[in-house]
Amino acid sequence: MDVARQISDEQKALWNGRAARAWVDAQDLLDHMLKPLEDLLLDAVPAGSAGSVLDVGCGTGSTTLAIARRLGTKGRSIGIDISEPMIGLARTRAEREGSPATFIRANAQDHALEPASFDLIVSRIGVMFFDDPVVAFANLRRAARDRAELRFVAWRSAAENPFMTTAERAAAPLLPNLPARRPDGPGQFSFADEHRVQRILQDSNWSDIHIRPLDVACTMPESELLGYLTRLGPLGLVLPDVDDQTRAHIAATVRAAFDRYVHGDEVRFTMACWMVDAKASAAGRAEGGRE
Ligand SMILES: C[S@@+](CC[C@H](N)C(=O)[O-])C[C@H]1O[C@@H](n2cnc3c(N)ncnc32)[C@H](O)[C@@H]1O
Repeated sequence: MDVARQISDEQKALWNGRAARAWVDAQDLLDHMLKPLEDLLLDAVPAGSAGSVLDVGCGTGSTTLAIARRLGTKGRSIGIDISEPMIGLARTRAEREGSPATFIRANAQDHALEPASFDLIVSRIGVMFFDDPVVAFANLRRAARDRAELRFVAWRSAAENPFMTTAERAAAPLLPNLPARRPDGPGQFSFADEHRVQRILQDSNWSDIHIRPLDVACTMPESELLGYLTRLGPLGLVLPDVDDQTRAHIAATVRAAFDRYVHGDEVRFTMACWMVDAKASAAGRAEGGRE
């Protein structure tokens, strides 16, 4: 099997397996945590407009639903995600709140989106998982109208986001098989290098590219911390496979490593991200990345 296909299959399996179940189960907590990022994306959505907006890697749908609320009855808000369980929850939420938002379960890298149909394409940390980001962003470019905007938030480096990697660092001596992060492959920190992000967008025919650092203060209740750090990230993928005694020992060790983030009944940390803006120039429509 070629490497790209293997990576693509791995990502699909990840987002339809344990990672997806953890995101579905922790939906309330994650939406609370990531709300400041969503608000920054919403600023790009003209309230009450008749525009069409695509939310890439929409997960359980919080941002897609918020966009639909902001657009009102004239606009169109569509989320696309590779994860069946997460899209399933997004659809249930839309139904529950009577939202006109719709969802596509597909790989945004190669799904045949309607050409020149979106005025705005956004993503809340959902675009770092493509096996070929240039092909993916070229696909999104073709779905964008001329002068459409692209706005997404992606993580900066693991070193700038120590909260996100504390669990795996604390657990590593106890779990030699913990999967290592691949800095050059798809994953949470694959957009850490802003020059790489710039090149990806240029090569996929986006223009007016602006990438700026964004440090967002974030909180969660202390009562949620243990569940968060044992379910999400690389640790959450392997902990279910160890015996109860080992799991309890690892959980206690890892929880202690988070003490510096705990202030009474609140956990406080900073999310170090890039806010990326770009435009679809008319010249770039027909071209588009490697294929
Ligand atoms: C970190 S989660 C973010 C989810 C959502 N944007 C949020 O903020 O709650 C990343 C999302 O990207 C999705 N994803 C990963 N690879 C994808 C692909 N190739 N096409 C579409 N979605 C993808 C995952 O299924 C997951 O829902």
